[in-house]
Formats: sequence, C-alpha cells, structure tokens
Amino acid sequence: MEEKKDLLILAIESSCDETAAAVVKNGREVLSNVISSQIALHTLYGGVVPEIASRKHIEKINQVIETALDEAKVTLDDIDAIGVTYGPGLVGALLVGVAEAKAIAYAARKPLIGVHHIEGHIAANFIEHKELEPPFLCLVVSGGHTHLVCVKDYGEFEILGRTRDDAAGEAFDKVARAIGLGYPGGPKIDKVSKEGNPDAIEFPRAHMGDTPYDFSFSGVKSAVLNYLNGCKMKGETWNQADVAASFQKAVTDVLVANSMQAVKEYGLRKFAIAGGVASNSALRSAMKEACEKNDIDFYYPSPIFCTDNAAMIGVAAYYEYLKGTRHGWDLNAVPNLKLGER
Ligand code: KG4
Ligand code: ZN
Repeated sequence: MEEKKDLLILAIESSCDETAAAVVKNGREVLSNVISSQIALHTLYGGVVPEIASRKHIEKINQVIETALDEAKVTLDDIDAIGVTYGPGLVGALLVGVAEAKAIAYAARKPLIGVHHIEGHIAANFIEHKELEPPFLCLVVSGGHTHLVCVKDYGEFEILGRTRDDAAGEAFDKVARAIGLGYPGGPKIDKVSKEGNPDAIEFPRAHMGDTPYDFSFSGVKSAVLNYLNGCKMKGETWNQADVAASFQKAVTDVLVANSMQAVKEYGLRKFAIAGGVASNSALRSAMKEACEKNDIDFYYPSPIFCTDNAAMIGVAAYYEYLKGTRHGWDLNAVPNLKLGER
C-alpha cells in the first residue's frame, strides 16, 4: 500500500503587532513557530501604532518566513499550501502578510488559503490536545475580541455571545495604563495581581439579562478609573496590586459564569479557551476549578500559542484545506471579517 504523504502548511500571521511564520505538519504538529514581536517598539507610544506596525512587518516578514522554513528543515518545494490571516485586524498590517502569501503561492504554484484570525486562535487548542475534536465550546478572549463560540465542526462556528463594548484584553490594557503599569497591560496585571488581594475592592460584574452570553467590560474599566479619581480627591493612596487583582477577579468572574452557563445549556462536555487573555493565570485556574466542579473537560493552549502566532493559522489552514477552501489571487485583507464568513 502506498504510504500516506505528510501535508505541510506554511502559515503567515501579521494582523497586529507580531510578524509570524510557522510550518505545521498534518494539522497538529508544529515544526517551527517563529514570532518577531514589536511590543518593545510600541511600548514607547503606550499602544500599537498601526503605521509603525505595517512598516515593521515589511522589514521582518521575509526573514521570519526563511527562519520558519529553516527551523522546520524544509524548503518551499516541500510545502503543500500557504495559509495566511486575512482578517480581522489592522488593514495595513494584514496587507503585508496577504501580499507576501499571494506572492509565494503564485511563484511556487501552491494553493492559497485565507484564514480568519479567530479561527486560528481557536485552532491553537488542537496543537497540544491531539484528542480534542469538535463539537466543543470555546471562549476567545484577546486584545480585539471577546467571543463565546460553539465550535460545531472544523471551521464551523456559532457565536453565542460577544462583548458589547471593550474586548477583555483591551480592558486589561486600559486599566494597566491607568494604574501606571504601562503596555502591554495584560501580562503586567497578571504579574502584580499575585501580590494583591482580589477581594480588596468590589468592582462591578456586568451581566446582560436579555442576552446572557454577551459581555461588557467598559463598566468595570470606568469603575476602576472612578475609584482612582475618588482616592485622589480624598488625598488617599491606593494599592496598585489590590486594584489590579480586584479588577482581574471582576473580569474573570464574568468570563467563568457566562462560559459555564453556556456549557450547561448547550450540553457540551468540552470547553476551551483561546486568545492572548487565555494565558492569564487567574483566568486559567478559575476556569479549571469551574470545569472540574461541573465535570467538564477543560482545554487551554500554552501561553506561546495563546498570543498571536502563525502555528495556530497553520492548523486552521490545514482543516480549511481538507474542506476544499482555496483562495484566488484576488484575496484581500478584510479588517472587519466576521467569523464563519468566507
Ligand atoms: O491574541 P492577542 O495576542 O492579540 C489579539 O488578537 O488581540 O491578544 C493580546 C491581548 C492584549 O490585550 C494583552 O494585554 C492580553 O492579550 N494578554 C493578557 C495576558 N497576556 C496577554 N491579558 C491578561 N493576562 C495575560 N497574562
Ligand atoms: Zn489574536
């Protein structure tokens, strides 16, 4: 019998401030995962500057792709398809990856597969959990998104809830700036919270009565700002670690409560988290505890696969490839691409 050939995807990700490329074998094995982060550069400005991000992607992308191929010990000839994030994200940043992927696919005569960034985040869970298969429920929490998604099959999603205002990561970043931690806020709040009391200050937990799986984080963010202002007016000092830990607990409580309610209502026994905020240690342990209590299998990627990377795009591209998804040379960056849209 003829031996089944391995399927190799070269994946490219440039939707925000990481220039990334990866080689993924048979959808679940990461042969290389190269990430050139621009965080240090954007820290100077307290957040991502879109123009600078695009320029840096252009400078780095060829080098990152070459390193990804080298580290995987393959050449372009060995690659079966090119996967690339084409939305959502910053349009100028996305364009760099899309143009690069099209050029490589055209020159090397390889199929081109455009991938939704959130589909990539969700697919990150497949890398280290070889046994995980749809259907399952996934909470996607990143700098730009907060979605509670039912993953019905590979590449097939039903969005149960989303944020009505700020994304969870955005709230972390804004609160971090307000309490003097700077950018990027999420990891810094995570770290200082370990020294603080999460029950020191009672910040609000927003629950949407009519749409129980939607989220809102602008209220808790304003409550933190009001608390800081109140202290200033009264001439009182505030404890940075206590504010961070109490804010983190308020956000975590809502994410856990909505997720567990959805898992129960949809009768799913598998629950995963994804996106940059999924690397938050308090969220991971609170979710783990809640899943254990409800007898649900809990999945989460290692931190390197939670924040933006190309390996997750390669995994999603593999399953799209199997479903027959192929994009033409007219593939464009779509900054507000909806999940499930093709
Ligand atoms: O997924 P990601 O890299 O990019 C987007 O697609 O948005 O997520 C970045 C977000 C940022 O808001 C960052 O502050 C947050 O994820 N983040 C964290 C942690 N690590 C990253 N938030 C909380 N705790 C963390 N440990
Ligand atoms: Zn992301």
